[in-house]
Amino acid sequence: MMNVLEQFKQLDNMPEQYKTMDRDELEARARAVKEQLGRRLFIPGHHYQKDEVIQFADATGDSLQLAQLAAKNNEAEYIVFCGVHFMAETADILTSEEQAVILPDLRAGCSMADMADIFQVERAWAALTDRFGETILPLVYVNSTAAIKAFVGRNGGATVTSSNAQKMVAWAFSQKERIFFLPDQHLGRNTAYALGVGLDEMAVWDPYEETLQGNGDLDKVKVILWKGHCSVHENFNVRQIEHIRQTKPETKVIVHPECSWDVVQQADYAGSTKYIIETIRNASPGSRWAIGTEMNLVNRLMHEHPDKEIISLNPYMCPCLTMNRIDLPHFVWALESLSEGTVVNRITVPREVAFEAKLALERMLALA
Ligand code: 13P
Ligand code: SF4
Repeated sequence: MMNVLEQFKQLDNMPEQYKTMDRDELEARARAVKEQLGRRLFIPGHHYQKDEVIQFADATGDSLQLAQLAAKNNEAEYIVFCGVHFMAETADILTSEEQAVILPDLRAGCSMADMADIFQVERAWAALTDRFGETILPLVYVNSTAAIKAFVGRNGGATVTSSNAQKMVAWAFSQKERIFFLPDQHLGRNTAYALGVGLDEMAVWDPYEETLQGNGDLDKVKVILWKGHCSVHENFNVRQIEHIRQTKPETKVIVHPECSWDVVQQADYAGSTKYIIETIRNASPGSRWAIGTEMNLVNRLMHEHPDKEIISLNPYMCPCLTMNRIDLPHFVWALESLSEGTVVNRITVPREVAFEAKLALERMLALA
């Protein structure tokens, strides 16, 4: 029997020749395929992607923008998605069956999305509805599997992204008394708190212990948070902010809301990748910033804004390893396969799952 590492390696079927090609050759090949396929090809890229890949993107964006772009594009036959698996699934759900969504490396997953599987979610829902009856609406962060989005869609809920979470949580409270927010406890807690929900009105569902844990009266709980988090953003903490305050008092701290509640409370600003980019872009020359998000994006902002002093909130920060799976060799292999008429690494969400997941996504897109 294969061990996990061997199974993981098997997901990568890129031919050896791409591994040894130099960067100039890979870039020339990417340009040639883009020219050959023209508008038959569309390349969306998330802000956390590497520069070597993002230079070829037709559009860049945060998760909401990328979902909106996919929903709008009915022209491209091939969508080569430079991002992670859940984003490619979302693009597949929002495009027609004739359009193929390709993820250049199938190992580009998301550790947060992996923290909730549909079986755990179904069990949690059974226990929670047993306790609270029909009073709960599920809301799911887009960083989740299509199966979980489908579960949320069929139970009247919606997806959220970091840039519309407040709007979506407010909407959910207009529908039901309680919300079940998954899988990122931090985005859920930060958003609900910003809307006036007290920490004692929130509780955490532990999918392994199958228990609801909180400090207040659990019968009065308004927000049930899934015990999940991002393994990149958990590397930011309050001590780092205190250090910045002591050593660089003029530096503003801006973080992504996947950071923990105490980090977001201590930061000067918090918002999605788009919000972070726009805040830095609009900041005055000479301003100083410590950014708490993924490192490819922080490095890009440093290069794009040499007139501002930009550092990572965590000086030892690494990029998101799964986002980084999409490198130039895999990207060029996926493109050249298309130019030869072969679709590799197609992401296909089964039709029944896609139908219900689309309900959840469309409820969000209608409000976003
Ligand atoms: P946004 O780009 O939507 O802010 O999301 C960040 C993220 O973690 C994507 O995985
Ligand atoms: Fe997932 Fe975190 Fe990477 Fe975003 S940064 S893709 S949430 S692991």
